[in-house]
Amino acid sequence: MIYPATNFEIQRAATLLRNGQLIAFPTETVYGLGADAKNVQALQQIFAVKGRPSNHPLIVHLADFSQLNVWVSTISIDAKRLAAAFWPGPLTLILPRAESVSDLVTGGQNSIGVRIPSHPVAQALLRSFNDGIAAPSANRFGHVSPTQAQHVQAELGESIPMILDAGACKVGIESTIIDLTSAQPRILRPGFITAAQIEQVLQKPILIGQGDRTVRVSGHLESHYAPQSPLKIVANDEFVKATTATVIISFDDINYNALRTIKMSRDPILYAHDLYSVLRQADALNPDQILLEQVPDSDEWLAIRDRLGKAAA
Ligand code: TXA
Ligand code: MG
Repeated sequence: MIYPATNFEIQRAATLLRNGQLIAFPTETVYGLGADAKNVQALQQIFAVKGRPSNHPLIVHLADFSQLNVWVSTISIDAKRLAAAFWPGPLTLILPRAESVSDLVTGGQNSIGVRIPSHPVAQALLRSFNDGIAAPSANRFGHVSPTQAQHVQAELGESIPMILDAGACKVGIESTIIDLTSAQPRILRPGFITAAQIEQVLQKPILIGQGDRTVRVSGHLESHYAPQSPLKIVANDEFVKATTATVIISFDDINYNALRTIKMSRDPILYAHDLYSVLRQADALNPDQILLEQVPDSDEWLAIRDRLGKAAA
């Protein structure tokens, strides 16, 4: 059930978490499916409800920096700098794990993903719960992440007792993930916070992408964030191929014979905010195909190109 994120409902959500149940809650990026990160049965529920393989690690969400040492073994200078610059906010740090952390959180790896979200409801929930909340995006494994409470209701509503509703998420795509466990920092998942911003803070170059590493980042499976209908990324002169069963997602107001045309912003921030919601909208029309106009090559579009590439794979 969807509940408005009032103080009363936030307290109730914290109680449900303490009782080992799952709840969905808004963050500034996407809605999360939360569980007590120290409760093994609750963690197992996350994998069951999402249909996610149990070796895919989870991000632990915290209210503030002082809780970090419960979850990680060492906090490097780089970690401190990035935390000071971007937390609370849409950045996940991969750090060496503390020994006590469950393998269900880490996927059996030596590292852990941690994030302090800025959304006021996520903050209030974390303060009330007063411990780590493990939270993947609140969607079925491989599907598009939810940016509205209704998206969670449609996919997981039957399986969880509570969805806290605070409207649409501001950022709209998942957090930037940066791995700080090796000598050179590496972005594992691009996001709203860019490589350039991170380099600016760390005063050194960072790597982007998986390289030849074997960490399990579910978002790095080839097909992910995917709608049900086949999605093709095309140049806009290919829209002539649209049929009456095609949904077009374009930067321009164009009028082909398509089932529906959805116009997107040329501002990457606004584009990211709308992207998942638009993909769901397109999908709901049950088209034969979705033709989406390719986005610019520049750095500010990197996170969007990453998600689109996976959605179309
Ligand atoms: O914006 C977000 O990060 C959202 C909100 C709810 O906070 N959460 C989210 O969680 O996107 P999830 O589970 O859908 O994606 C987290 C990604 C996964 O691809 C996971 O494999 C990776 O983070 N991850 C988590 N811990 C990791 C670790 N120790 N090493 C490498 N990757 C890790
Ligand atoms: Mg996810």
